[in-house]
Amino acid sequence: MDQSGEGGRGGKDPRAADEAAGRSDLQMSSEAMLALAGKAAELAVARIESLPGENAWDGDFGEGLERLLLEQPPENGRPAEEVLRRAVDDILPLTTRLDHPRCFGFVPSEPTWPGVVADFLASAWNVNACSWLVASGPSQVELVVLDWFRRWLGYPESAGGLLTSGGSAASVDAFVAAREAAGNPQRPSVYMSDQSHSSQARAAVIVGIRREGIRMVATDGDYRLDMKALARTVAEDRAAGFQPIAICANAGAPSTGAIDPLQEMAAFCEAEDIWLHVDAAYGGFAALNRDGARLLAGIERADSIGLDPHKWLFQPYEVGCLLVKDASKLEDVFAFGTTVLQDTIWGANHPNINDRGLQLSRSFRALKIWMSIQTFGMSAFRRAVSKGMELSKRAEAWVQESRTLELLTPASLGIVCMRVNPAGAGLTDETLEDVNREVLARLFWDDQAFVSSTSLHGTFSLRLCIINHSTSWDDVRETLEVVERFGEEAV
Ligand SMILES: Cc1ncc(COP(=O)(O)O)c(C=O)c1O
Repeated sequence: MDQSGEGGRGGKDPRAADEAAGRSDLQMSSEAMLALAGKAAELAVARIESLPGENAWDGDFGEGLERLLLEQPPENGRPAEEVLRRAVDDILPLTTRLDHPRCFGFVPSEPTWPGVVADFLASAWNVNACSWLVASGPSQVELVVLDWFRRWLGYPESAGGLLTSGGSAASVDAFVAAREAAGNPQRPSVYMSDQSHSSQARAAVIVGIRREGIRMVATDGDYRLDMKALARTVAEDRAAGFQPIAICANAGAPSTGAIDPLQEMAAFCEAEDIWLHVDAAYGGFAALNRDGARLLAGIERADSIGLDPHKWLFQPYEVGCLLVKDASKLEDVFAFGTTVLQDTIWGANHPNINDRGLQLSRSFRALKIWMSIQTFGMSAFRRAVSKGMELSKRAEAWVQESRTLELLTPASLGIVCMRVNPAGAGLTDETLEDVNREVLARLFWDDQAFVSSTSLHGTFSLRLCIINHSTSWDDVRETLEVVERFGEEAV
C-alpha cells in the first residue's frame, strides 16, 4: 500500500518499506501520518475561511452521485492524499453547510475548532468511554461536563446522566427510566404536544409504547401545550385503562422555539405522579443567557432533561445529553453486572457510564465540550447564545415593519416564523402557500442563504433559526431583504 501521499514509490514493492519497518498492512509511517493529518487540517481550515463566500447549501441528485461514487472497494490501496482529495472535493461539499453564517434552516450548528480537534484526538487515542477501568480520565471529564450542565439548569446534586449521540437517544433512555419508575405497566402511555419533535414519538415506539398510547396533546395559539387538554387526555386514558408513564414538555419546540408551560406541567406531573421529561435538545443552552434562564424556569422540576450540545453549545456532531434528577434511576434500569465485565466494577465514585444508557462502547464526547469551554471560557459561550437571541428579536422587529412579510410567530429561543403576505393584497391561504413555496424554492436555488419551512397548525411558514455564532445582523437582514424581493416578484 502506498501511504506516502505522493503517489507510487518509483516502481519498488510498496510493501517493502512497511515490512522492513515492522509495520502492519494497516499502519503508516510517522511521516505519512503527519502529512495526511496536516493536509486534512489545512483543507478544513481553508474551507472554514472560504465558507462565508459560498452557498449555504450544495447537493446533487442520486443519479449523478451514483455515477460519481458507486464502485466496488479497491483491492489495492491508493495514495492517501488522493483519497483525502476525493473526500474533500467530491463528497464533503455536498451538504447543507449547517455552519454557514447564512444557514437558517432546521437547526444550524457551527462547531468550535477545539471541539473539532477534540473529536480527532478522541479517535486518535481510540478512547472507549464505557467504564472507569477502560477510561478513567475520560469518565471523570464526562462527570465534570455533566456537572456543569446540571448547575446551568438548576438541578440538585443528586442529578446526573450521560452524553448520548443526540436528543433522540436521550429520549429513548429517559422513557426507559420513566417506564421502570412507573413499575413497568402493561398498558403504558406517553404524552407530548402536537408541536413536539418527531424524535419523542419515535423514542416512545422504540421503548415499546403502542401507537394508541402515544398521545399528541393540542397546543394553544402560542404553540404551547394546552394544560386543560393534557389533564383531559390523561383522565380519559386512565379511565380507559392506560397507565401514563411520561409527559414530555418542549423547551424549544422545533417549529417555533415555543416553551411549554413548564411550571404547570411540573405541578401536574407531581400531582399525578407521572415522570416529566423536558425535551430541551434545541433550547436548553439558552439557560446560559439571563432571559433564557428566566424563560426556562421550572425545567429544574423535571425528572429528566434532554440536551443537544451539538446544537446551541456549538459542538460537532454527535453529542446529546440526558440528565436525570435522581441519577440512580438510570443505573437501576441500565446496569447489568456481567461476568465478562466484572473487572470493570470499581465501586462508589467510579461510575461506569455505560451503565446509564443504551451504549456500551461509546466515543469520548465530553472532550470536545471540555476543550471548547476551556479554550474560550464561559463568557464567550454566553455571548454567543445571547447573540442568537438578539438577532432573532431584531429579525422579528424587522418583519413586523415590513409591508411584504407577515410575522407568524415572534422570536422564541432564536426561531422566528413568517410568510410573504403583502399588505392589502388580500391573498387566500392557498395562494399564499403557493407564493411562499415559490419563494422558498428560489431562495434554495438562487440565493446564498439556506432557509427551511414548517407548517403551523396547517399554515405554511418560512422559518429562520438564527443561532450560528458567526452570523451577523447583515446576514439576517440581507436574507430577509431577499425574501421580500422574491416575495414581491412571486405575487
Ligand atoms: C427540539 C428537538 N428535539 C429533539 C431533536 C432530536 O435530536 P437529535 O437529532 O440530536 O437526535 C431535535 C433535532 O433537531 C430537536 O430540534
